[in-house]
Amino acid sequence: MAKQIAHFSLVALALCCLAFANEPKPLQDFCIADPNSSVNVNGMTCKNPMQVQANDFYFSGLHLMGNTSNPLGLSVTPVTVAQLPGLNTLGISMVRIDFAPWGINPPHTHPRATEIITVLEGSLQVGFVTSNPDNRLISKVLYKGDVFVFPVGLVHFQRNVGNQYAVVIGALSSQNPGAIIIGNAVFGSNPPISSDILAKAFQVDKKLVDQVKAKF
Ligand SMILES: *[C@@H]1O[C@H](CO)[C@@H](O)[C@H](O)[C@H]1NC(C)=O
Ligand SMILES: *[C@@H]1O[C@H](CO)[C@@H](O)[C@H](O)[C@H]1NC(C)=O
Repeated sequence: MAKQIAHFSLVALALCCLAFANEPKPLQDFCIADPNSSVNVNGMTCKNPMQVQANDFYFSGLHLMGNTSNPLGLSVTPVTVAQLPGLNTLGISMVRIDFAPWGINPPHTHPRATEIITVLEGSLQVGFVTSNPDNRLISKVLYKGDVFVFPVGLVHFQRNVGNQYAVVIGALSSQNPGAIIIGNAVFGSNPPISSDILAKAFQVDKKLVDQVKAKF
């Protein structure tokens, strides 16, 4: 009996943790996000199914090149539940990323999603870093048609390693993957993290920290 209970607890534990590791499976055909609802749930509330239309499942514009005239040479066009309400509860989203020649997508992480990309134009160096204690850099140069996956939560980056524009289409395993850009989070938080803390964390002079902070 005790053994059975122990077994049951183990199964329950496994089920619990599996469930938390994924976005919930929808319990209906769809749940179109209703941005007007004031109810807070883990996701968004459903629009009345009787009022749902084809456009709720639709987004247009990923054929358009983004504006990469910025210091990073980068443009990110997300298609998450915020742009496409039909993604609500489905655990998936898309992105187009444009790179100017030698442009970069700086080190960042998606707290809720694995990201899989394919290169449509150009060539990119991509990489991610494994978690502690190894912090191993896994990196590769990709060409048109190549596919690469960044595992959920890991810090990753991309760099255009060519003199032409590069374009990537990506899919993410969350309707709302989130993005934490390491530099912005650490040096550009609001209010700022004290420079003393950052100086000690990075083992550099406080002046250097203030210089970096001024860039964010
Ligand atoms: C939210 O409210 C706006 C303004 O009242 C309306 O145009 C829009 O259709 C509403 N959206 C949904 C999903 O009900
Ligand atoms: C691209 O962005 C830059 C910087 O924000 C801006 O000056 C420029 O007008 C934009 N170009 C287009 C075509 O929108």
